[in-house]
Amino acid sequence: MQRKKISLSDLLKMKSNGEKITMLTAYDYPFGKLIDHAGVEIILVGDSLGNVVLGYDNPVPVTMDEMLHHSKAVRKGVEFAFLVSDMPFMSFNVSCEHAIINAGRFIKEAGADAVKIEGGTNAVVETIKAIIAAGIPVMGHLGLTPQTAPMLGGYKVQGKDRESAEKILNQALALESAGCFCIVFECVPDKLAGLITKKLRIPTIGIGAGAECDGQVLVIHDLLGINNKFMPKFVRQYANLGEVITQSVQDYICEVKQKKFPAEEHCFKINADNLPNLYTQT
Ligand code: KIV
Repeated sequence: MQRKKISLSDLLKMKSNGEKITMLTAYDYPFGKLIDHAGVEIILVGDSLGNVVLGYDNPVPVTMDEMLHHSKAVRKGVEFAFLVSDMPFMSFNVSCEHAIINAGRFIKEAGADAVKIEGGTNAVVETIKAIIAAGIPVMGHLGLTPQTAPMLGGYKVQGKDRESAEKILNQALALESAGCFCIVFECVPDKLAGLITKKLRIPTIGIGAGAECDGQVLVIHDLLGINNKFMPKFVRQYANLGEVITQSVQDYICEVKQKKFPAEEHCFKINADNLPNLYTQT
């Protein structure tokens, strides 16, 4: 079947038809292209960029410039998927005006289709309304929000007791009313995510939030086994590219040392008559 570019209404239709939405992160052109051609509906340039590509311990230090740089590269490889860029910490927290300017840069300079914003406090909801009023689609992100993990007691499952479960439900309803087209739930009990998914008109995408969400997202480096740091319980590793990469590099080192690479077929040739004669040169 001929593929067409995924739109916001396609995502809403998928929810109402009960068709699961797939989303993955990408941080550069080749991965954007490969993941897009494999057929996911949403590609996220996540601020997990900091953890998995830039070598930071958490996403907090990731800057607007870094996010724009990587979003531009992914954009070049993505033809069909809906492309979302994560707004990094402090790019939307200072004022609505500042947030609109930064969100606009993802659309105008990087070519993103939408932005993602973490959190569900009243201040974040007001910011999201302002960005949407400026004509930019926003994806919400609730539950464990890594940018503010210290405020949540660390990297922990959120919404396990009655009070915090109700808080997440109310935040989700507020984000839907604010106009978000979709909400990511991270590290939330599966039954809670399922209940909220049923209550919302907009799709939910889970990461560590169970099978009842309308879709799923993973960090591509976790799925492919490239990330050798801590692997959360919710990850299924579909390949071990880390091992493939290490083995390939070791094979290369070995062949160069043993003078097996480059071989004849890798060399450019010159007619022997055109070779300078070392002995006649002054
Ligand atoms: O930054 C990221 O990769 C994310 C996903 C885990 C949803 O926010």
